[in-house]
Amino acid sequence: MPTPVIAVANQKGGVGKTTTSVNVAACLALQGQRVLLLDLDPQANATSGLGLEKVEGASSYRPLLGEGTLAEKIQRTAFDKLDILPSEPDMCGAEIELSRLENHLQRLSMALEPVRKPGTYDVIIVDCPPALGILTLNVFAAADWLLIPLQSEYYALEGISMITRVIGQVRDTGINSKLGILGVVMTMFDGRTRLSQQVVSEVREHFGDLVFDTVIPRTTRLAEAPSFGKPIIHYDRYSAGAAAYEVLAQEVSQRLAKQRG
Ligand SMILES: Nc1ncnc2c1ncn2[C@@H]1O[C@H](COP(=O)(O)OP(=O)(O)OP(=O)(O)O)[C@@H](O)[C@H]1O
Ligand SMILES: [Mg+2]
Repeated sequence: MPTPVIAVANQKGGVGKTTTSVNVAACLALQGQRVLLLDLDPQANATSGLGLEKVEGASSYRPLLGEGTLAEKIQRTAFDKLDILPSEPDMCGAEIELSRLENHLQRLSMALEPVRKPGTYDVIIVDCPPALGILTLNVFAAADWLLIPLQSEYYALEGISMITRVIGQVRDTGINSKLGILGVVMTMFDGRTRLSQQVVSEVREHFGDLVFDTVIPRTTRLAEAPSFGKPIIHYDRYSAGAAAYEVLAQEVSQRLAKQRG
C-alpha cells in the first residue's frame, strides 16, 4: 500500500493547523515512524517551526509545475526520522500558475506518487494554508485523510459546514472519491473557561467519535517552541502541550492502523 497522506486542514486561519502538523509529525517520528512533513502553506510556518530557513527554490513549487521532482526537495530535519519538504513565500504564485495547467488539481497527487512508494515513509503529513484554494484542493486530491483542528472557542463550528461541503464535492466530483476524515482535534482548550468546555461538548455532539479524545490545551510553551525551531516534544519534553500531542499522535497511529486492517 502507498504511504498514507494526512492533510491537516481548516480554511479558518489560526486554529492550530501548523502547530498540530509539526507536533504530530514530531511525536510520530519519536514513536519510531518515518515521517515526511510537507509544508504547502506560503507562510512557511511549519518550515521555520522545524528550524529551517525559508529558502527560495527549496519548496515543492517547481515540482508541482512539472519541473524536477518532489524527492529532490526533501530535507532532513534536526530530528531523527523526521524529514520535511519546505515551503517558501513564492508558493503564493503556485496557485495562479497551477490554474493554467492541465489536471491542475491532480498535480500534487501525481508528484507525490514516487514519494509514497512503500519503504520510504510510514506517513506523510501536509500542513495546508488557511484557504480552500487550488493548493488545498491539490492536497485534498492527494490525501487519504483529513485531520481537522478546531479552536475551542465560540465560532469553532462556523466554517466547518463549508469544509464538509467541500469534502462532499471532492468525493462526488471524483477529484478524490476516497477522501476520509481521520478526525477532528480540539485545540487551544482553556479549562478555566466554561466556554471552552461548552464548545468541546457541542463539537462532540456534532461529530461524535470523529473527535479525538485528546484535547490540546492552550499553553504559552506551545506558542514559544516554533521560535526555537523545535517541536514541543524537543523544546519542553515534560510540558502539558508535549503530553497532549504525544497522546494525539498515538490516537492518530491507532486510527491509521485500524484502517489498514
Ligand atoms: N495550544 C496552543 N496554545 C497556545 N498557543 C497556540 C496553541 N496552538 C497554536 N498556538 C498559537 O496560535 C497561533 C496560531 O496557531 P497555528 O499557526 O498553529 O495555526 P494555523 O491554523 O496553522 O494558522 P494559519 O491559518 O495562519 O496557518 C500561533 O501563534 C501558535 O503558536
Ligand atoms: Mg499554519
